Amino acid sequence: MFFLTTAIDYTNGSPHIGHAYEKVLADVIARYRRLRGDEVYFLTGVDQHGQKVQQTAEKEGVSPADFVARTTGKFTALWEKLGVNYDGWAATTDERHKACVRSILTSLKNQGQLYKKSHSGHYSVRQEQFLQDRDRDEAGNFGPEWGEVVEIEEENWYFKLSDHTDWLKSFIESDPAVIIPSFRKSELLNALEKNSGIDLCISRPKERLQWGIEFPFDPNYVTYVWFDALINYISFAGYHAAADSGLPDFDEIWSNRPIHIIGKDILIPAHGIYWLCMLHAMGFSDAQMPRLLVHGFWNSRGGDKMSKSTGNIVDPDLLADQFSTEAVRYYLVRDIVTGKDSDFDMDRLVMLFNTELANELGNLCNRALNMSQRFTGGILHHGGPLTEDDTALQASLTQSIHDYQLAMDEFEISKGLEALSRHIVHCNQYAERMKPWELNKNPENHQRLATVLYHLAESVAHASVLLSPILPDAAAKLAAQINLPSLTTLKLADLHWGLLPDGHLIEKPLPIFPRIITEKP
Ligand code: MSP
Repeated sequence: MFFLTTAIDYTNGSPHIGHAYEKVLADVIARYRRLRGDEVYFLTGVDQHGQKVQQTAEKEGVSPADFVARTTGKFTALWEKLGVNYDGWAATTDERHKACVRSILTSLKNQGQLYKKSHSGHYSVRQEQFLQDRDRDEAGNFGPEWGEVVEIEEENWYFKLSDHTDWLKSFIESDPAVIIPSFRKSELLNALEKNSGIDLCISRPKERLQWGIEFPFDPNYVTYVWFDALINYISFAGYHAAADSGLPDFDEIWSNRPIHIIGKDILIPAHGIYWLCMLHAMGFSDAQMPRLLVHGFWNSRGGDKMSKSTGNIVDPDLLADQFSTEAVRYYLVRDIVTGKDSDFDMDRLVMLFNTELANELGNLCNRALNMSQRFTGGILHHGGPLTEDDTALQASLTQSIHDYQLAMDEFEISKGLEALSRHIVHCNQYAERMKPWELNKNPENHQRLATVLYHLAESVAHASVLLSPILPDAAAKLAAQINLPSLTTLKLADLHWGLLPDGHLIEKPLPIFPRIITEKP
């Protein structure tokens, strides 16, 4: 099983472009892996507990439960609009999740992994955690990223993180695949050095926070929101679940190492340290440890961080209304290198859509489908003698599929799309050289004309398959026009020259990627 998850989004506000990117990236990978022949389970969801939710709900005069129900609806509606097709929905207020968190707390306590102690220190309200001296900046202050910092003393439950950090260090050093891309490994190892000997506070007293999962053995406390949220990856995969829970079979889901897709801001300490140590404490072996696919950030044009305070957040919902779901999905995975940051640029969104989809792919479809309809009654024929141009086109397609697969296997969607684009450009140049419209003028050229049109149509059929993980709806329309009903069952390994048989009848062409027209002042 290829088990793929995303971070679960805070439901303290509305989804923004960063959330949308991560979910579309995961959706593309899930669809690609299915095309590759894997059985896939894609889990995403929402992180609904914590102080921020409690505070915002209070301000708005509604209960936290009503508040998160409303904000969760914005996320589910957006995923539907963007075609994000998940198999499991992880909402942390789900009773099945709460039961799993409680059962993990109880077994960790029974194993001596939890203890209670009093601690006085600086507490960041925004980050909902106690701060250490290592969190101070060079001037010795707690920087603005921590928000309001207050001094408090309280008794809490702690998880013996420090029992696991030596193991974690050698595991990260020795496992080549745990962090993708690997350049993030050194950041994690540095952070681990700083973290050694520190345990993790995993409770919050009810006087301060009620909106969380109550401790099973100490009802005055709720669970720290990160400890609660991280467990979603196993609770919704069926870990410790009742047989009639409706959740999947955990052993089946976790049979291979899962991939957790997360942003770079939540690698350290949450996923890279807390989560791996939590799993280790629960008895997960090295071979069962998840792999972390760490993506970069979408920033504003000019590299600025998108933030509520500067008002430069891009709303993916409005964007999809303005430019179409296809344009948004395409841009979000096309104009960023997985792992690196990118600047969100509307002009590039329009340019990439118009150049690569409306012009190049649109032109190829138009030529292949329209000319076949007009010149050969929509019937494709092959079998005529091949020229060097034809074999070069076939070689270009083989190369393109090869490069696409290499890139997509490494989660490099942008490179995969570039590989596809190269073949489409090749096809259009071939069409310009072969000039089927000229060939059609002389009946003696009829066989040559059929061969040229076949090469174009066959390329469109392949393009519909390769594009399907990224733009499933457009790919389905393309496949319908080229009359390739097997799109839904075809696997990457089935691709070969000759998908469309001799005598194949194609459908009437309809434009799929209308050019985006923007009004420039
Ligand atoms: N709730 C936690 C995650 C818990 S996972 C057990 C959280 N939520 S979040 O809503 O703040 O972020 C959700 C995901 O969106 C994270 O992976 C985060 O890195 C990602 N992004 C948030 N802003 C982003 C950009 N501007 N660009 C790309 N991804 C960004 O963290």
